[in-house]
Amino acid sequence: MKRVGMGVAAVLAMVTLTAVPGVRAQGGDAQSDATKPEFFTTRVEPIFQQNCNKCHAGLFHRGGLNMGTREGMLTGGHHGPAVVPGDPAKSLLLLLVKHEGPEDPGPMPPKKAKLSDADIATIEQWIKAGAIMPESK
Ligand code: HEC
Repeated sequence: MKRVGMGVAAVLAMVTLTAVPGVRAQGGDAQSDATKPEFFTTRVEPIFQQNCNKCHAGLFHRGGLNMGTREGMLTGGHHGPAVVPGDPAKSLLLLLVKHEGPEDPGPMPPKKAKLSDADIATIEQWIKAGAIMPESK
């Protein structure tokens, strides 16, 4: 158990960077189990914080979408629900980051490089497992 794979190392780095209180990487269990809220806080939320939240959380809710809360993502914005728990194919948020969504509102993030395949897969896995988040969100 001393040797950690690339995936676990990445998770460890992320946990250290975001310094989530009370969350410790323990062999990646909760962090690799998409049905656990830790999957969101350690793996999905950092992607959103880095690529989306300056336009979709806090001060700004572009397109009417607040990605700062689960409620906000389920309700979505002007184009309806952004996340449909358990149904990635119906989740506008995922379609837009995959560049497979409608022209309007267009690919997300706008005018930026597409997210990495790994990040897109993480978001997809999270939605598939029910878009689980901590109750405080
Ligand atoms: C630079 C600002 C900016 C960033 C960064 C950004 N968005 Fe957007 N987003 C917008 C704007 C502006 C709209 C509204 C576009 C429109 O309606 O034509 C929008 C619309 C959306 C919508 C549709 C909302 C609706 O119902 O109309 C989704 C879903 C979305 N963004 C997801 C994301 C995701 C996921 C990310 C990160 C990967 C992201 N966005 C990053 C500016 C941004």
